[in-house]
Amino acid sequence: MKHDLVLVIDFGGQYKQLIARRVRENNIYSEIIPYTKSIEEIKAKDPKAIIFTGGPNSAYLDDSPSISKEIFDLGIPILGICYGDQLTAHLLGGEVKKGSEKNREYGKTICHYKESKLFKGVESGQVWMSHTDYISKLPEGFKCIASTDNCPIAAMENEEKKIYAVQFHPEVKHSIDGDKMIRNFLYDIAGLKGDWTSENFIENKVKEIREKVGDKKALLALSGGVDSSVAAVLMHKAIGDKLTCIFVDHGLLRKDEGDQVEEIFKNRFKINFIRVNAQKRYLDKLAGVSEPEKKRKIIGEEFIRVFEEEAKKLGKIDYLVQGTIYPDVVESGTNGSAVIKSHHNVGGLPDDIGFEGLIEPLRELFKDEVRAIGLELGLDEDLIYRHPFPGPGLAIRVIGEITEQKLNILREADAIYIDELKKNGLYRKIWQAFAALPDIKTVGVMGDERTYDYVCALRAVTSTDGMTAEFYPIDMEILAKISNRIINEVKGINRVVYDITSKPPGTIEWE
Ligand code: XMP
Repeated sequence: MKHDLVLVIDFGGQYKQLIARRVRENNIYSEIIPYTKSIEEIKAKDPKAIIFTGGPNSAYLDDSPSISKEIFDLGIPILGICYGDQLTAHLLGGEVKKGSEKNREYGKTICHYKESKLFKGVESGQVWMSHTDYISKLPEGFKCIASTDNCPIAAMENEEKKIYAVQFHPEVKHSIDGDKMIRNFLYDIAGLKGDWTSENFIENKVKEIREKVGDKKALLALSGGVDSSVAAVLMHKAIGDKLTCIFVDHGLLRKDEGDQVEEIFKNRFKINFIRVNAQKRYLDKLAGVSEPEKKRKIIGEEFIRVFEEEAKKLGKIDYLVQGTIYPDVVESGTNGSAVIKSHHNVGGLPDDIGFEGLIEPLRELFKDEVRAIGLELGLDEDLIYRHPFPGPGLAIRVIGEITEQKLNILREADAIYIDELKKNGLYRKIWQAFAALPDIKTVGVMGDERTYDYVCALRAVTSTDGMTAEFYPIDMEILAKISNRIINEVKGINRVVYDITSKPPGTIEWE
């Protein structure tokens, strides 16, 4: 079965992923494409509705992002947002002007609506605005359906052609009832059915994977993180024993993590599971290395080597499975390139590793969708809501030179920290929390004894994508409890500090 598709055409707006997610929250599949795609490419995708995003440019300037006017004649319902609204007006013969002090609007604004399908069940109220230009004249065939004090045409429609456009941002939570407007557009105006659900996704994907793999074999590098875990269980459901998972235990994992991963995938899901105990190999390679980028390089290279050696032992394997997810592959409307976080590829595999093809079963999904599917497939909440963990693991949290002793100290401290965050109901409020072990010893006193031990640094941040982050203000009493426990229970630490740096200027990891 083919899902209905809503295309989000990106004109450089910062909310493009949010718009696509809002569509999907309505159980309708959406994809983001840059405005540079041709009308033929757009038609070939057979979208059932189209949304234009916002963007920082002025629609009336020649070199601003634009699109062929033909798009309005395809008979496909269109919703323009912000720049998408102005571009619609501009292309169809209306007028967009540079705003004076009076017309510009930033932030929360009260909007008054008129009768329109788009506003069914919506009462006049607050919307989120962010614009300098404004529509000063409607295109022919359009009617004004909303206004604010400073923006006389805050929304417009051509009901017959099913073209709607709003100056404000219905996709952000500050626009009250914005979700209703998006739903009205998708269901009442475009007449979509809502066929994008976890169950449907799993059913279709399983079928698709089975057809693709046939009686061939597939291999997956399992890290125990959310994406590769969900990919493993989904693939296993589709092709059973034809899937083999290789889990490289590099000895840089958190406390008991290797055993937990083995328990889940080998014993519970009965997946063909190979655990490679490469702890010693990694420690040897990392001995004496303290420069962070060098550590990353060694770990990345060693991973490929170990994986290749194991794969060779298995004989001919046709497909490589990877847990790539949608935010990794979205093309940007402004520069046309894929979004890649360069240093986040550690643990990735080169393309030329000798497989016939690549399978990326989660490629279309946002993280929250991957989680929903993981839960549906029977993975535990503990795993599904786990904080992100870097490929090089504790190697970049033991600052400076890595030794087994330091790793063990850090593992114990980190486990206590995470345990307390969970007990105090904080774990899920935080994007990422961990302990780091700086390469510093300080003097302390325990009982009557002088101590000279390591400092442990605690970090907790909130974030939506790891690109920017705020430190999380953990209650002092809870911090004091954690500090006490760590110092009392972990031999080798006599001082605990809390990191109150946001990103920027700090990074999330210490190395
Ligand atoms: P930074 O420290 O750059 O981290 O603010 C942002 C996010 O990326 C993770 N991170 C990595 N992940 N390999 C990875 O797979 C790496 O080398 C790496 N370095 C940082 C970090 O944990 C955070 O979630």
